[in-house]
Amino acid sequence: MQFSYVNPTQIHFGQGQIKTIESVIPTDQKVLVIYGGGSIKRNGVYDQVSQALAHHQWSEFSGVEPNPTKETLDKAVAIAKEQDIDFILAVGGGSVIDGSKYVAAAAKYDGDGWDIMVGKHQVTAAIPIGAILTLPATGSESNMGAVVTKAETHDKLPFMTPHVQPKFAVMDPDVMKTLPEKQLINGIVDAWVHVCEQYLTTDHGAMVQDGYAEALLRNLKTLGEQFDARDNDQWRANLMWTANQALNGLIGSGVTQDWATHMIGHEFTALWAVDHARSLAIVQPSLLRNQFAVKQAKLEQMGKNVFGFADSDNLAEETIKAIEAFYLSLGVDTQFNGYQGTKQEAVDTVVKQLEQHGMVALGENQAIDLTQSRKILELAIS
Ligand code: NZQ
Ligand code: ZN
Repeated sequence: MQFSYVNPTQIHFGQGQIKTIESVIPTDQKVLVIYGGGSIKRNGVYDQVSQALAHHQWSEFSGVEPNPTKETLDKAVAIAKEQDIDFILAVGGGSVIDGSKYVAAAAKYDGDGWDIMVGKHQVTAAIPIGAILTLPATGSESNMGAVVTKAETHDKLPFMTPHVQPKFAVMDPDVMKTLPEKQLINGIVDAWVHVCEQYLTTDHGAMVQDGYAEALLRNLKTLGEQFDARDNDQWRANLMWTANQALNGLIGSGVTQDWATHMIGHEFTALWAVDHARSLAIVQPSLLRNQFAVKQAKLEQMGKNVFGFADSDNLAEETIKAIEAFYLSLGVDTQFNGYQGTKQEAVDTVVKQLEQHGMVALGENQAIDLTQSRKILELAIS
């Protein structure tokens, strides 16, 4: 175990916390508020933000779409440059926060922002960001990652830099009251897979990381089981905090990480607009079966410590089945059939995209090459 760890995002958690931004963003800062398609206008969050910023000079950019695109975000980059913006306030889910991270970094760069996504430009500076989270799922509110899509070419790529880590995140579970059921389910599934990507790898004996990961998985399982009783403050607060902890860097410190499910899943979103979380549920079970030999010990550990199974000869496979059953209980498919043309064409298309994006050695052992990805896709696409 060897790592450096810091999570510098200050969290303001709880009901009524949006007003704290009044004092945490200095009043001499020119603020750009970035948001999505307008849910915040309908649920009162926009009004709370306006009130809190009454003594600030601020402007706004709206229309960041789910799976944010470079094409849209570049318009905000131009505004940030023109108006000499000092601070970006992202108000939304993972898409708005990720998009704001791209804007923050691209605004400090003279070239095309997409250079950041393809590694042509190393980010050395960014406009400081704060986040008001409206959808618990991605953990983007307190991590340094972002995923952006180039609509023109169907490229969905991640980038990571500490320069875009939010300075603060406001997490008021009341904002979740207007979330469609589908988005709440997406939040549970995305957070679940985030934990798995950092936990279901090798048997490394890191007791803190494993134990905390298992606690988060048990929480998500319980919240899924209690889905019918979701309209209560405790349920919302627990999901919001669990999803945050799933991807704030802690459980991934000093352990091997996988992320192959995410990289393959991104192609389903870029090609067929599958919701991010749903793309993961499509890929993960097939990927776990493909990587069974190397993941068996951790699958068995998960079976015992998360699902409460007794030791048995087929414990690892039972665990994969339990993961599938968990997704299906939430109404989330574990295979994909939304393609046009033949299954073979669909598989070929995803493999080609993975190749184009350099996703040719995925997983904790870099063992998932295009041949293995193809095998995974043969199972994942029905
Ligand atoms: O755009 P608006 O009108 O706000 O509507 C959004 C959007 O349509 C709506 N919504 C959000 N908060 C709401 C609400 N509707 C009613 N009430 C509220 N309180 O929900 C829809 C989906 O929002 P989106 O931000 O797209 O969802 P999510 O938070 O799941 O973010 C997904 C994006 O995050 C990326 C994904 O790839 C995807 O692009 N990820 C980012 C990660 C990171 N930065 O660490 C990690 C993840 O693995 C993930 O890849
Ligand atoms: Zn995710």
